[in-house]
Amino acid sequence: DTIPKYVDELPVPPVAKPLAEIKGNPYYEIAMRQVPHRFHRLFPSTTVWGYDGMLPGPTIKVQKDEKIYVRWKNKLPEKHLLPIDRTLHESAGPPDVRTVVHLHGANVAWESDGHPEAWFSRDFAKTGATFRRKVYEYTNKQMGATLWYHDHAIGITRLNVYSGLSGFYLIEDPVEKHLKLPKDGYDIPLMIQDRSFRSDGSLSYPENTNPPAPVNPSVQPFFIGNTIAVNGKIWPKLTVEPRKYRFRILNASNTNAYTLRLGDGRKFYQISTDGGLLTEPVELTTLPLEPAERSDVIIDFSQHKGKKLILQNTNAEGNMGVIMRFDVLLPLRGRDTSEIPAKLISEEQVLYEHHADKTRLLKLDAIQDEYNRPVLLLDDRMWHDPVTEKPVIGDTEVWKLINVTNFAHPIHIHLIQFKILHRTPFDLERFQQDGYIDYTGPPIEPAVHERGWKDTVKAEPGMVTSVIMKFTENPGEYVWHCHILEHEDYDMMRPMRVVEKEK
Ligand code: C2O
Ligand code: CU
Repeated sequence: DTIPKYVDELPVPPVAKPLAEIKGNPYYEIAMRQVPHRFHRLFPSTTVWGYDGMLPGPTIKVQKDEKIYVRWKNKLPEKHLLPIDRTLHESAGPPDVRTVVHLHGANVAWESDGHPEAWFSRDFAKTGATFRRKVYEYTNKQMGATLWYHDHAIGITRLNVYSGLSGFYLIEDPVEKHLKLPKDGYDIPLMIQDRSFRSDGSLSYPENTNPPAPVNPSVQPFFIGNTIAVNGKIWPKLTVEPRKYRFRILNASNTNAYTLRLGDGRKFYQISTDGGLLTEPVELTTLPLEPAERSDVIIDFSQHKGKKLILQNTNAEGNMGVIMRFDVLLPLRGRDTSEIPAKLISEEQVLYEHHADKTRLLKLDAIQDEYNRPVLLLDDRMWHDPVTEKPVIGDTEVWKLINVTNFAHPIHIHLIQFKILHRTPFDLERFQQDGYIDYTGPPIEPAVHERGWKDTVKAEPGMVTSVIMKFTENPGEYVWHCHILEHEDYDMMRPMRVVEKEK
């Protein structure tokens, strides 16, 4: 029952190719298909869902400010791979297999954002209430960044993403050209996901972990797998040259958070956060990643020739404490001319808390439903309650996330990138009594690895986590939510309506 580790070589997802052009802009068609997939050489094959029939999906590579079009096609069967909780939004009846694609971290018009109710079934036979277009338009008006696309269908996102619906989307930025960062074959995305399997090789996702509830299948508050896959292979190895590599690391797990450590604590250099490059590289020995967070890092293997370095997860022990291995066994193919530059980019826009047009206090809380199951909530409201977050174009907003639950929630806001201002501990008991925020300590600066542009932030328990953002364009219907997919589905997601300034 222990699966041998570091057997399969790490696959690198292929880059998607445009099918045609629309008005001179690349046009892609990417179909979701049910396919057999090998997670491990010694495993029977597993039925999964993949974009273009691949897990991860093909990597979409674009230039900053280059417009592209994508037709996301649902070619999945009518029956879902995984058990559906019939009590959740729109899950009572068909279509069971509804999909919609969100480009996580993108500045995009709302009709192309993958709103949860903009879902579509196979061949667009049925569509949800906010469905507007079959071909999505991405303008890529933002910094170069490691983004990712994944399913976002209302009530079943956790199941669709777990089935395999996620892929990388890389925006290349001309400013990077001068930086001599490792590139081409030395620039590798790593998508980390935990998974569990049945003995026949099929994906295992719990039906009901809360037996007193009469609901079966039932959503559960967490999912933690018992193996770790990187780019769709379980505990792979990557054979590398003794030189510098850039890794674009994404935690695409449903619930699980990781703290990465390289071979008992060797140094590596973080160069970006979710939204793009940092102003300068940060030297690290550990790197925490909540679900949906990304970090690009540079690892220099030149001093580790002949060594095998394990990428560890210090949040866990045993099987879940190891992710993959780097085998520094290839000969150097040419001089390594890449660099870890002292400076990366200059700060173009600084957002100051005292310039905020609006400050929102937003509570992260849990209640119980009629079956005594936990329901995670944002500001005590359900998904279907009227929209309350209505930022105005041109405004700078501070959102204070008051976490009164006893665990961390990775909170993601669509459309914009924000900066973390600080986290401040507060008196939880007092707050529960009369709603007053009595701070019990000074504000704590964000950690060194989270001082760049972010679209997902770890809201720590017992803390008020403050983030600042500016809304500059694209009015419309967006969402914000916890990126623990089990929370997002029930019911830690809220609408966000971005509105034009009144003249
Ligand atoms: Cu990565 Cu709204 O999601
Ligand atoms: Cu959560």
